[in-house]
Amino acid sequence: MIFENESPRQFHLQNDEISYVLHVLKNGHLGHLYFGTRLNHREDFSHFQQEAERAGTSYVYEGDMNFSLDLARLEYPVYGSTDYREPALQIEQLNGSRISDFKYASHRIYAGKPELEGLPATYVDEEEEARTLEITLHDRVMEADLILTYTIFKNYNAITRSSKVVNHGREDLNLSRVLSASIDMPDSDYEMIQLSGSWSRERHVKSRRIESGVQSIGSTRGTSSSQQNPFYALKRPNTTEDVGDVIGMSLVYSGNFLGQVEVDHYDVARASIGLQPFDFNWKLEPGEAFQSPEAVIVFSNQGMNGMSQIYHNLYHQRLVRGKWRDRERPILINNWEATYFDFDEDKIVSIASQAKELGVELFVLDDGWFGKRDDDTTSLGDWFYDERKLPGGISRLAEKVTEAGLDFGLWFEPEMVSKQSELFEKHPDWAIQVEGRPMSHGRNQYILDFSRKEVVDYIYELMHDVLSNAPVTYVKWDMNRYMTEISSAALPSDRQKELPHRYILGVYDLYERLIRDFPEILFESCASGGARFDPGMLYYAPQTWTSDDTDAVERLKIQYGTSMVYPLSTIGAHVSEVPNHQVKRITSLKTRGEVAFFGTFGYELDVTNMSEAEKEETKNQIDFYKQHRELIQKGDFYRLVNPFEGTGNDTAWMVVSDNRDKALVGHYRVLARPNDGFHRLYVKGLDPDKKYHVRQLASHEDYNESHSGSTHFGDELMFAGLNLGAGYSGTQAGGIKESGDFSSTLWLIEEA
Ligand code: DGJ
Repeated sequence: MIFENESPRQFHLQNDEISYVLHVLKNGHLGHLYFGTRLNHREDFSHFQQEAERAGTSYVYEGDMNFSLDLARLEYPVYGSTDYREPALQIEQLNGSRISDFKYASHRIYAGKPELEGLPATYVDEEEEARTLEITLHDRVMEADLILTYTIFKNYNAITRSSKVVNHGREDLNLSRVLSASIDMPDSDYEMIQLSGSWSRERHVKSRRIESGVQSIGSTRGTSSSQQNPFYALKRPNTTEDVGDVIGMSLVYSGNFLGQVEVDHYDVARASIGLQPFDFNWKLEPGEAFQSPEAVIVFSNQGMNGMSQIYHNLYHQRLVRGKWRDRERPILINNWEATYFDFDEDKIVSIASQAKELGVELFVLDDGWFGKRDDDTTSLGDWFYDERKLPGGISRLAEKVTEAGLDFGLWFEPEMVSKQSELFEKHPDWAIQVEGRPMSHGRNQYILDFSRKEVVDYIYELMHDVLSNAPVTYVKWDMNRYMTEISSAALPSDRQKELPHRYILGVYDLYERLIRDFPEILFESCASGGARFDPGMLYYAPQTWTSDDTDAVERLKIQYGTSMVYPLSTIGAHVSEVPNHQVKRITSLKTRGEVAFFGTFGYELDVTNMSEAEKEETKNQIDFYKQHRELIQKGDFYRLVNPFEGTGNDTAWMVVSDNRDKALVGHYRVLARPNDGFHRLYVKGLDPDKKYHVRQLASHEDYNESHSGSTHFGDELMFAGLNLGAGYSGTQAGGIKESGDFSSTLWLIEEA
């Protein structure tokens, strides 16, 4: 529902649980009035604004010491008349002016949600699912329009926002800053939660109290990055996982971004998110328009988990698209950690055939099948199969794998080129570089200039060819380095700062074309693991390879952090061999499986080297995942014990079915504690009045032969808790022989 009050002009976006109120200020700019728990509508919300005489600032009108943008809470601040905080928009004009003055001109309200041309965005299936408010503001001097678009969903407590600048004038405009959303919150009593890390330890949860001044996260690396994720939350200090207010800011974008909170001199907190302004400029010629990416702003008064569930539902149901949105995702085996570059057709077919016997559904051929790629120094860009390794080509291999009973998936790294490649020899200028300067590399490779249509066309043709000539049902799309020496041979000097954004638009364009041509293919995005795990990618690729780190213990933190925003159906999680290749840790197959169960499940090891006992256990894991796949991939996820708090020794989470008749709980302990206390685990999301049968899945040889279990009402399980069991008492307890370190326990809870 969107209400409009005419005088004073205000807009109230409301659904059953949230309200968002904005208004037109005296000078025609937009002001922010409220975002939070639903409010009853009323004729006037003006009393929410803070207008009072204050000395020591600058004022818009002569003789008026009240009206200053410095004092106002703004909705999409522009630079630079009386507001001194960092704006959402800055436009440089040919006369050197950086001032803009966008005043309300008109608005329209309609059912549904518009698409963003060339950009990923959430969507609706039916118009009744959302309502949209489009406000047009006009700058008389520049003759430019600023169109702000707001959508409120009926069934998700989320507001989406984006902005568009249209140049109706006769001069070029230079957009040096175009954020997607900005909100001035009335106070700064918040903690900022962010997902930070690095390669192989992505999306660790960090928290800080916000303070006077600017605090920000962002990327300048050309991808959303593993260092920071395009998301942050502002939660009240007393907000917990389950209770209390929190606002989430998430950007549907895969490139350079900025997420920023600026606390001003009156403790107003300006929360904004959008394209990274550092090293950005967009020249907008007369008649042209520039569209920002979409920000998805969520409010929950049910704590961090409440916020996460809103994102999970929205992103699973109305961001991910196509056939795979609602389909169960296949259990896959990937040959990367099994063979690296060293494989041939026979090896691959033997892995696939054995995997089939264990119940795997999809085989994925990773890096090394093309050009002459025996290591990472060559062949990127030459998407022709390597006859030495695959004499019958991808088509014969794919057919053999298909005959063995598995679907066939293939790895590409479309955006890259190696210096040792036919492509680089032919088109050295297609690599991003600054003429006359050395080219830095990442993993011996260079980035193709995807801002150029002919480059995207060329890669499209090659990929299209491979995919049309073999029964490929899955593509893993990798991207293994960050951008340096950012410059395009095809762009004029005054457009060079457009390259990172144009590049991402090129990536989206290639994805869109391939999705259109091959709607049956399931895409999984990847960037050295999780360096591009963002909502932009999910619009094209329904799942993401979460991290190159497959160690079960490291994965606890990575998957826990990732779950802040992203649903389990998007989180690629595989069992790999031990000692683990990233940290050399040895964990049991049981623990590796029980961590990877909470995601889109698969294996990344050489099944042909497995012992009979390991094969039996793997078969059992696969059976188990198949039985509960719908619950895991579509259920509601709850975080129970936080590995970023306290000693970090314990982690727990669970997933509950839609109608609350079934749940799967995972508890993990890094190091065993001798003679431990008697701990309980408080589960969530059950129906307090339903009777459940609870089974601890203790036997890793056969999940079906587990403890007989006991029966409890949901309230008991949630409020009195599950008994965590005896654990490792330091004696011969339970006849347990293996190490107590890196242990995991699963419980299956089913309506009795
Ligand atoms: C990085 C990916 O994250 C890995 O899974 C693997 O595909 C390698 N690249 C291959 O080069």
